[in-house]
Amino acid sequence: MRHLEISDLITAVDPHDGRRLPVRRADVVRQLREGGDERAARIVAGLPTDRDGVLDPHAVDGLLISVHTELQQLSEELRIGERLVHVLNPLFTAIRTTTGQPGPYRLVDIGCGLGYLVRWLAATDALGPDVELVGVDLNAALVGEADRLARAEGLNCRFVHGNAFELPESATVYISTGVLHHFRAEALAEFFQAQAASPALAFCHFDIAATRLAPVGAWIFHLARMRHPLGRHDGFVSALRAHSDEVLLHAAAAPGMRALVYEPRGLSNPFCTTLRPVIGVRPPLEAPLRRALGRAARRLVGPEHLAGATR
Ligand SMILES: C[S@@+](CC[C@H](N)C(=O)[O-])C[C@H]1O[C@@H](n2cnc3c(N)ncnc32)[C@H](O)[C@@H]1O
Repeated sequence: MRHLEISDLITAVDPHDGRRLPVRRADVVRQLREGGDERAARIVAGLPTDRDGVLDPHAVDGLLISVHTELQQLSEELRIGERLVHVLNPLFTAIRTTTGQPGPYRLVDIGCGLGYLVRWLAATDALGPDVELVGVDLNAALVGEADRLARAEGLNCRFVHGNAFELPESATVYISTGVLHHFRAEALAEFFQAQAASPALAFCHFDIAATRLAPVGAWIFHLARMRHPLGRHDGFVSALRAHSDEVLLHAAAAPGMRALVYEPRGLSNPFCTTLRPVIGVRPPLEAPLRRALGRAARRLVGPEHLAGATR
């Protein structure tokens, strides 16, 4: 069976200008059936369309916002904000001491969805006032909702609709959560190359750890926590699509970036590991980052510490 996520198929945008493109329901259903996923095909077959068979964009947006709201609850339960800050604070310490530049530094969350992490960072001021917080997403409905929530909460952060790599201003640090597994081989390499080719000093991308337990854990977790069949389906499939530490390190090793993984398989408890970050730093930042991490630096390893297996 081909592992496809429904949410990737029911929306389409022009990657350059973010313009929404029509999606025919029958095309999505056929693609899922050809991939052998009858359950997903049935879920999509139940979504509303116009008279021409094009999926109703308002219904799709409403559905994606409600699924992402449930995803946000998972992020809260898994304490993703705290786990991100655990590595980002030492990273910004390394950047401040190495560059000697006073800031402001810009953090860009690629594929921010409802912007939970950016809003959490703004609400807690966990990274300090010299870090500007920006969330970017190709999906106008999700990023629009992120912006609405940030305004309602009076938070000091920004949300932008568009491609994270075509912003007028570059990032100091790129981050993401739950995005990497959406890219397969070539697109994954391009994702990392775009960051290495930019003026950014580092990146930190959290995604599902590819352990044997991940699909079962994801199935139980999403069944217990998500109401809509689409959220349950995509949560389970995303664990099946998760990249191994080796694949991520290989793809992230673009010229001018030192690729590292924090808490790789083998150095972490498989019953507890849900998401772990792949980190990239400009080479002069590695030693200062390790100093700033202190004892935790033992959990930060490069490709030379992992077996050559790929997935
Ligand atoms: C599964 S969602 C993750 C949402 C969010 N990070 C979370 O954890 O709830 C992946 C998002 O990445 C966005 N995306 C993918 N590539 C992007 C790019 N180059 N620039 C901006 N957004 C992108 C998609 O539009 C989609 O909303």
